[in-house]
Amino acid sequence: MPPATKRVTTLDLLAWKREGRKIVALTAYDALFGRLVDEAGADVILVGDSVNTVLAGQPTTLSATIEQMIYHSRMVRAGVERALLIVDMPFLTYQVSIEEAKRNVGRVMQQTGANGVKLEGGAQMADTVHALVEIGVPVMGHVGFTPQSVHALGGARVQGRAPEAAERIVADARALEDAGAFSLVLELMPSGVAARVTRETSIPTIGIGSGPDCDGQVLVLHDMLGLNDRFQAKFVRAYAHLADDVRNAVRAFGADVREGRYPDAEHSFER
Ligand code: KIV
Repeated sequence: MPPATKRVTTLDLLAWKREGRKIVALTAYDALFGRLVDEAGADVILVGDSVNTVLAGQPTTLSATIEQMIYHSRMVRAGVERALLIVDMPFLTYQVSIEEAKRNVGRVMQQTGANGVKLEGGAQMADTVHALVEIGVPVMGHVGFTPQSVHALGGARVQGRAPEAAERIVADARALEDAGAFSLVLELMPSGVAARVTRETSIPTIGIGSGPDCDGQVLVLHDMLGLNDRFQAKFVRAYAHLADDVRNAVRAFGADVREGRYPDAEHSFER
């Protein structure tokens, strides 16, 4: 029998921060992409509530539901063996009360087989994070631009440019660390602010649009594959151009079918 794959744990991420080994994280929303991303060596796979914009075609993440997150997370779990699997808690499933947060997070953990959850917000979420950590749930925080607050923030804008705003981000990160979060996503902030949070906290930071000094980086898979080609933020590097590949393949198939080149003998059965 081949040796069982060693799964990445939250303790590995903490050790890697101390060793200076960068953490590679990507989103996935189904078993097939989950498996491909896992096989290619991502350390963390996030079932982001971005599924609601990227796959479900909605304008924001606000309408993502807990059922949707559970549905996609179960699929991803089926494909992932090594990476740490984290699930985003959708809007209003953890902000109303600590009791509700525990029940909803518990449901996600029980029904998906995830290794932890991510929730958005800084110091105001610290008591909730603490309560979840107390019942044994690894929690990843998310500060800077928090997409579930997109309307309050006036759009997807860089946060922490003004000195007071930068101080607030650092204070939020510290509050989450003190509450027991095992890691932090730092989204859309100046590199210097992310570098400071990374230096001044002992838990690993995973940046998106926050410069090179974080302990790791995360991107939305469909953006970096060039599949989601209507979304092109400055911070996204496209490592493939799969939207073009899909359109070209469909055009080629259409032309072959219309002109009688497909199927040919090779792709047909004689008997
Ligand atoms: O929802 C998501 O995909 C995320 C990542 C981009 C960090 O929160």
